[in-house]
Amino acid sequence: MEKLIFPEDFVWGTATASYQVEGATREGGRSESIWDTFPRKPGAVYAGENGDIGSDQYHRYAEDAALMAKLGLKSYRFSIAWTRILPGGSGKINPEGVAYYRRLCEELHKYDITACATLYHWDLPQVLQDKGGWTNRSVLSAFEEYVKACYETLGDLVDTWITINEPYCIAYLGHLYGNHAPGMRDLEKALAVVHHVNMAHGIAVREYRKTNLKAPIGITWNLDTPRPATLKPEDKKAADIARAIHTEVFLFPCLGKSYPELVTKELGLAFPIENGDMETIAQPIDFIGVNYYFENAVTFDENALFKFSVEPSWQEKTVMGWHIVPAGLERQLEWIAEISRAVKFSDGSCKNELPIYITENGFAREDIVTSDDRVHDKERIEYLQKHFTVCADAIKKGIPLKGYYLWSLVDNFEWAFGYTRRFGIIHVDFVTLKRTLKDSAFFMRDVIAGFGEW
Ligand code: FCB
Repeated sequence: MEKLIFPEDFVWGTATASYQVEGATREGGRSESIWDTFPRKPGAVYAGENGDIGSDQYHRYAEDAALMAKLGLKSYRFSIAWTRILPGGSGKINPEGVAYYRRLCEELHKYDITACATLYHWDLPQVLQDKGGWTNRSVLSAFEEYVKACYETLGDLVDTWITINEPYCIAYLGHLYGNHAPGMRDLEKALAVVHHVNMAHGIAVREYRKTNLKAPIGITWNLDTPRPATLKPEDKKAADIARAIHTEVFLFPCLGKSYPELVTKELGLAFPIENGDMETIAQPIDFIGVNYYFENAVTFDENALFKFSVEPSWQEKTVMGWHIVPAGLERQLEWIAEISRAVKFSDGSCKNELPIYITENGFAREDIVTSDDRVHDKERIEYLQKHFTVCADAIKKGIPLKGYYLWSLVDNFEWAFGYTRRFGIIHVDFVTLKRTLKDSAFFMRDVIAGFGEW
């Protein structure tokens, strides 16, 4: 029997994002974001679906908080929609938007569930996109206004802050590979976005430190750390390049180092760095958030844009087409613990190690409610068991892993896949919006209660 031991103060939570769950896109004085407009482009999102209704959390947050409490969850990671707080992108604060997040946090606190708020999970105000969005450095002053508004109006209720969710997706899926909003395919612009998003993170932390708030603040990265397909040195190099362009370009500057040479020298790529930028980015953070879903194998490929290409793998895939590789999480945790050791930030402060949180991990499948009014999602439970085992082992090995947020609390709008990919441990009927706890929700409850053996 496998018995997993987690420290008593281990933070068990679930995660969501504003555009994916809230719905109510035309309520409460909210303006449009790039994710409202993107689904209107033919072919951009499955069947032209959008987040207008989402999981209706804007109206059902109290029911969702009660369900979290029922499962014994200790923390809820959600994101704040910039378009609700500053509908003009900058300028006047919208009190109705603020009131919504205050209600949500207060509801969580009723059950002793902590509020972990992500400042930016991809829903840039469309008014700012009209001026070039993340490709235009001027977005940074609007972002600064936005984060200050959040600290000022929600700072007394938020228990943990996350600056940005997955800079990789913002820069590359949004501006190079084109499958996320705003749907661009332009390398130079994508590199500008890499730098501007890093700057936005630095600005968010810099401004936070000017307040009297004491809650921890960090960032969430999805790390692409592929393994080389063979022992050949060129495949090893391909894996190093992939990690450099997809991952280290975000981590290194935030952790006080320069952009990786494999990118600036080997690939010969440049970022629009201005005087003082690297200092702005390398602000002292309190923790690192890691989103992990899969690991790929890569090979050297002279003709590929970044000289590597992804090879087929043998592991089973989820309906996302993502290979299930728990060992990849182990490798990733070891790598991140290693590179976040003895970090020197731009204010001269040093950290010997940074606490790590898994801020997303989860499994999509075609869940159906059966005649017993249940969802028997055995494969999701198996996926979680394997990944929880890795987490427990990592803690045993001394990796400072402090918490785990499962993606996701409820089924929701999965970006370009629309509503076709269910990640929730709570099933949502997208017609009636009825919630049904899946078996994995009960599994999660038992793990949290200390009975996660199988
Ligand atoms: C991550 C996103 C999250 C969700 C999961 C499945 O990349 O941060 O919003 O879509 O993938």
